[in-house]
Amino acid sequence: MLGTTEVGIESIGVAVGSGSVKLEALAAARNVPPSKYVDGLGTHTMSVAMPSEDTVTLAAQAATRALGNAGVDVGTVGLLAVGTETAVDHSKPVASFVQGLLGVPSRCRVFETKHACYGGTAAMLLALDWVRSGSARGKKALVVCSDIARYGIGTPGEPTQGAGAVALLISDRPSILRIDPATAGVFAKDVSDFWRPLYSKDAFVDGHYSVQCYLDALGGAYLHHRELVGANDAPARFSDRYAALAYHVPYGKMARKAHRHVRSLDGDDAGDDSFDRLVGPSLALPAAVGNVYTGSLYLALTSLLLESKVDLAGKPVGLFSYGSGSCAEFFTGTVGSEAQDRVRRLAIPELLASREDLSIAAYEDVMRARETLDESSGEGRVLHSHHPFRFTGVRDHKRVYEL
Ligand code: HMG
Repeated sequence: MLGTTEVGIESIGVAVGSGSVKLEALAAARNVPPSKYVDGLGTHTMSVAMPSEDTVTLAAQAATRALGNAGVDVGTVGLLAVGTETAVDHSKPVASFVQGLLGVPSRCRVFETKHACYGGTAAMLLALDWVRSGSARGKKALVVCSDIARYGIGTPGEPTQGAGAVALLISDRPSILRIDPATAGVFAKDVSDFWRPLYSKDAFVDGHYSVQCYLDALGGAYLHHRELVGANDAPARFSDRYAALAYHVPYGKMARKAHRHVRSLDGDDAGDDSFDRLVGPSLALPAAVGNVYTGSLYLALTSLLLESKVDLAGKPVGLFSYGSGSCAEFFTGTVGSEAQDRVRRLAIPELLASREDLSIAAYEDVMRARETLDESSGEGRVLHSHHPFRFTGVRDHKRVYEL
């Protein structure tokens, strides 16, 4: 096992909040032209976490699907990490609750990682090194990216909310994506573009500045990656070497801006020409779910594998992860031969169709209810979620979940 070089994602699982809001309806309620949200931002629906769902239940659900999709027993998990920026406790990690719900054995490293939307990527890259180094001793890592994106009613960020989790089983059998950590380009800078103070349920954001910070970080990470593969001397249309690109998607238009920036760094000022071919398929699921923060890049990857009309097996793809604050990484992988079939078996269109389409009044009720959920016993509350894991309330200051 020592020195294993073939590492990456063996399987993927996806969970989304079981409520949803159509952005056309939200636009009407906010007196905004619907085209601003649907075309201007590139999202048509956002998932909403119902009161019996939280970061833990979404993570547990996605993790169960990732294990099931690979036919892997929970006993083989030797590292369980949850990347999140919407943790449920200042001390106890989401990962420990997930360990309990899934029955992950005690001989396991269990922890949480945080760096805004980059937190899940940080955990995944650590997990890759854990497998490569031999420390895994034949075990697999389960990395879950789980978040509820919340800016608040009536804010400019409201149409860019969402709720969901993507679980990645990381091992030396990368049936979905073999990742090459050695050429990952990185960029970090202390900026205040998006943050959530300890006293607030809602994120604060300097919206237009955050877009610029994302693009600056993308440029830094992409040029570092190009340098690592020795291509900065002849960068012409460098990104054409990838069969597809998946960017962090807070909203679809951001990926379009990102791609335009990458192509301009490649000396191609007509960047939009390659957008549909290289990026288009990765945006279908994000447009139907919204921003899921840590999971957004991996939802885009899932979308790419599900929606691409091309056989991607054996082909290289580029991935860009951005977390406000900030840290970003541009890394690459090679699609596995089973990847597209496996993702089709996840039945994600059916999962999305099963969401409850909420009226704006019902959505606002859920938003307000969430403000006190972490302090209430939950007595008398209707358990909305059809997920097998449910958050039932707080008793003796402890969060209680049921299967
Ligand atoms: P805004 O200021 O209300 O919108 O908020 P706008 O005026 O910039 O319009 C948005 C787009 O719609 C523009 O397109 C308009 O032209 C267009 P662009 O110029 O950008 O190409 N538009 C229309 N299109 C069609 N028909 C119309 C129409 N009207 C306007 N009628 C903003 C936009 C993104 C700032 C806001 O939603 C926001 O603050 N969102 C949250 C922050 C965010 O998502 N930032 C992204 C980068 S940072 C990041 O990705 C990290 C993050 O995920 C957090 C983390 O790391 O944890 C957020």
